[in-house]
Amino acid sequence: MGKKMGDHVFYRDLRRSYPTLVKGDGVYLYDDDGRRYIDGSSGALVCSLGHGNREVAEFMQQQAEKLAFAPIARFTHGPQAELAERLAKMGSVELPYSYFVSGGSEAVETAVKMARQYHLERGGTNVGRFLVIGRWPSYHGNTLGCLSVGGHASRRTPYAPYLMPSPKIGLPNCGSCSWHLTRSTCDLRCVDALEREILKAGPQNVSCFIMETITGSCGGVILPPPDYLQRVAAICRRYDIVFVADEIMCGAGRTGKFLASSHFGQMPDILILGKGIAAGYSALAALLVSERVYEAFEQGSGAFVNNYTYAANPLSCATACKVLDILTRDRLIDRSAEAGRRLREKLRPLTIRHHVLGTDIRGIGLMIALELYQNRDSQISFPPESKISEKLARACLDEGLVIYPGLLALADRDGDCFLLGPPFIISEPEMDEMVSAIDCALTRLALEVRL
Ligand SMILES: Cc1ncc(COP(=O)(O)O)c(C=O)c1O
Repeated sequence: MGKKMGDHVFYRDLRRSYPTLVKGDGVYLYDDDGRRYIDGSSGALVCSLGHGNREVAEFMQQQAEKLAFAPIARFTHGPQAELAERLAKMGSVELPYSYFVSGGSEAVETAVKMARQYHLERGGTNVGRFLVIGRWPSYHGNTLGCLSVGGHASRRTPYAPYLMPSPKIGLPNCGSCSWHLTRSTCDLRCVDALEREILKAGPQNVSCFIMETITGSCGGVILPPPDYLQRVAAICRRYDIVFVADEIMCGAGRTGKFLASSHFGQMPDILILGKGIAAGYSALAALLVSERVYEAFEQGSGAFVNNYTYAANPLSCATACKVLDILTRDRLIDRSAEAGRRLREKLRPLTIRHHVLGTDIRGIGLMIALELYQNRDSQISFPPESKISEKLARACLDEGLVIYPGLLALADRDGDCFLLGPPFIISEPEMDEMVSAIDCALTRLALEVRL
């Protein structure tokens, strides 16, 4: 039952008492007091198949008995080759090669290094290219490199002295446009900022541009407007900059297509998958790489200067193959699209009952965000010190529901939102249970903060 005094764990929040989970089954998690929680956010949008999938567990046991670890500096192995082949088929013909690591942050660091080495391989004036252009706000992971290229102020601040320079542009947030323009007249001013930033930094210094295809926790599910990705890709091509799309949260089927970029008809040069690729059963992330980037290495030194002990781990790669098998066989990616539509419909009445909710329920597939406002009519957000999304997450936990509190990117300030992203296997009654738990939690929150 929760954290005990004298416990030797260095917890994330030392002042909080955490329930002790003992079991997961389908969309549910169970603690050692016998309490049941619906995992309404699949952890951090990870567990797309749900918890306790016996088929995956049995397959993992067989693989662990066969080959759990491989020294990949000297060997390759079947699961790595098989997973790369599957990703080439399920992903995009434009991204035929895969490079495997063991987590999202490691993958983002790897993409930054791959882009830099791509330029080194081509030689000449390209060897001076090193800058990574990112966006405010964004989240690309928690290592120093990832914090540098990402745009999450509160996570960056304590480590600011260590962060490397990385210019940033704003998000294309049409619901709250930084330039106060409308879609019919804006001509994607937000993309012009990329070109301006490249010219300001000097194109000969810029290595890559990184963006979340769909902005996740650090913005509350913000989709790029039509043509945004095409314009970004064209600018990157014009200045010979590598275009990196981070789909760690939005990829692997979460949005109703295997790759989120497929919704927008444009592939980057490097696309990163994490979280859902092994659905929480093992630690894995993948870089899907274009012919153009691969060729530079092939025709250059032939060797990428990068490795990690657990990179391309056989158990993780085999687990991901099994996860992809089940996603395909059970048509779970289509189900994510449909379940997402249904869940958004079911959530809508809550916006009528609870005025703390914004009226805009953003989402695609099972990646959904709701906004929280102190006064939604005049779009006044809560002061950051009220930690309202965290309070709501706790109230939801008391109602037996896990949600993912996030940051809302407004034109001139940060606000609050929360993400929902249950496992793709969620049923109608389970969705109803989620909605009713949110309803009760919002009522409880209103009393607590006197809304
Ligand atoms: C878009 C995005 N990029 C990168 C990461 C970092 O991944 P990890 O936590 O596996 O290091 C996350 C994690 O939430 C993410 O959402």
